Amino acid sequence: MRILEHPNPALKQRSLEVDPASDTELRTLVAAMACAMYEAPGVGLAAPQLGVVKRVVVYDVDDELYAVCNPVIVERSEESECDEEGCLSVPGIGVMIPRSVRVTCEGVDLDGAPVRIEAEGLLARVLQHEIDHLDGVLVLDRCSAEDRRDAIRRYNEIHEQVG
Ligand code: NI
Repeated sequence: MRILEHPNPALKQRSLEVDPASDTELRTLVAAMACAMYEAPGVGLAAPQLGVVKRVVVYDVDDELYAVCNPVIVERSEESECDEEGCLSVPGIGVMIPRSVRVTCEGVDLDGAPVRIEAEGLLARVLQHEIDHLDGVLVLDRCSAEDRRDAIRRYNEIHEQVG
């Protein structure tokens, strides 16, 4: 499946919670998400990036694939860190974005069992980024107004060249 790119309106929608017990398409969706993520390649992907407005994310920052449904950040460190961040839906663009250094994320796995992830560094950043996607928030919405103008100008230039 093709990863949707900004400014596709599907990327701005708020995704809906899933129920792993009754959602028979969940495993197929996660397989397609993992496939698209590895092919890109990227370290995380959210279902709305494939046009599916469900609260499902996949990530692999440490050579292991994880899928989390209905992820919520329940705790975050006050300490934040600004770093360059890219997004498969805004290809070719990196923007500086502040994120909490540590987060605790809760959700359920594909069997509906609760999961709790204590994350820091890159994993914490990836989780915050992917959960943003579930709320229709892109990196362009998280950076400074100046960076946003600059990023959109560069993005449009790249896209005009590609056609
Ligand atoms: Ni992204």
